[in-house]
Amino acid sequence: MTILVTGARGNVARALVGQLLEGGHEVRAAGRDPGRARLPGGVEVVAADLARPAGWDAALDGVTKAFVYAGTAGLDGFLSRAGELEQVVLLSALGADATSEDAITRAHGEAEQAVRDAGIPWTFLRPGGFAANRLLWAASVRGGVVRDPFPDSHSALIHEADIAAVAACALTSGHIGAVYELTGPESLTVREQVSLIRRVAGRPVRVETQDLDGYRRELTAVFEARGLGSAGSAEVIEARIRRLAALVGRPQPTTGTVRDVTGRPARNFAAWAADHAAGFR
Ligand SMILES: NC(=O)c1ccc[n+]([C@@H]2O[C@H](COP(=O)([O-])OP(=O)(O)OC[C@H]3O[C@@H](n4cnc5c(N)ncnc54)[C@H](OP(=O)(O)O)[C@@H]3O)[C@@H](O)[C@H]2O)c1
Repeated sequence: MTILVTGARGNVARALVGQLLEGGHEVRAAGRDPGRARLPGGVEVVAADLARPAGWDAALDGVTKAFVYAGTAGLDGFLSRAGELEQVVLLSALGADATSEDAITRAHGEAEQAVRDAGIPWTFLRPGGFAANRLLWAASVRGGVVRDPFPDSHSALIHEADIAAVAACALTSGHIGAVYELTGPESLTVREQVSLIRRVAGRPVRVETQDLDGYRRELTAVFEARGLGSAGSAEVIEARIRRLAALVGRPQPTTGTVRDVTGRPARNFAAWAADHAAGFR
């Protein structure tokens, strides 16, 4: 049984490949640029791009289950070639809803609907914000100032290894038809997150309030650099800003799903920061 993990360069995909290999499973990783994937040795890596569906035939050869990103165009083309799969585990997002006015939740809801319509047995992972988003602060932390438009905005950020752990359980032990809402174990403000990163960075770091236009410019550049296409649209960025503003001074509710599914508690933000300390030094 070969498991296909798409988005080989992604934070979650990389962690998932490692966990599946540790569990003794046969894994094939697919990415647009396999040479840059930095995957553990011993894993088969193939080039495949959701924008070019024909390329998936080789990637899917002999595969029974697949982990797939929702946030990319071209999912329909992939699904049209994946009809023989026993299961697709889709990396969706908290609140996914195809009828939502929020561009982010709507895009993920549409991706879930496409998977349902394809008739392939599925499992949906709906994480909230990734702790890995904070890697974007690395250069700012080294420079001693983190700029954010909403320093008192809360988020219950989740460690990519916990999303991967739930995905690994889903891919190896059933969970068909399950919708898993995933968060970290605690809700922290931006200031609290910076304070925990400061400890592992071992240097003083202060937080400055960023103006919204600066934030928009920065986010657009990040999306463009990652080649995430429509994810960089102004509509998505405005949806993000509205979400952050709504969580100023309001803790985000957490879920216990990581523990329920994997049997282990979700890693907290301090643990995530320690795992990524080198990136902040
Ligand atoms: N960041 C968050 O807070 C958050 C929260 C909830 C849900 N999500 C979901 O998780 C996804 C990943 O988020 P991330 O921030 O962690 O991004 P990331 O690590 O940069 O990963 C994005 C992945 O998308 C893949 N990808 C993009 N375009 C593709 C294409 N044309 N064909 C094949 N693969 C393509 C990339 O794969 P390759 O470059 O290797 O091909 C990459 O692995 C998001 O797209 C979103 O749907 C994110």
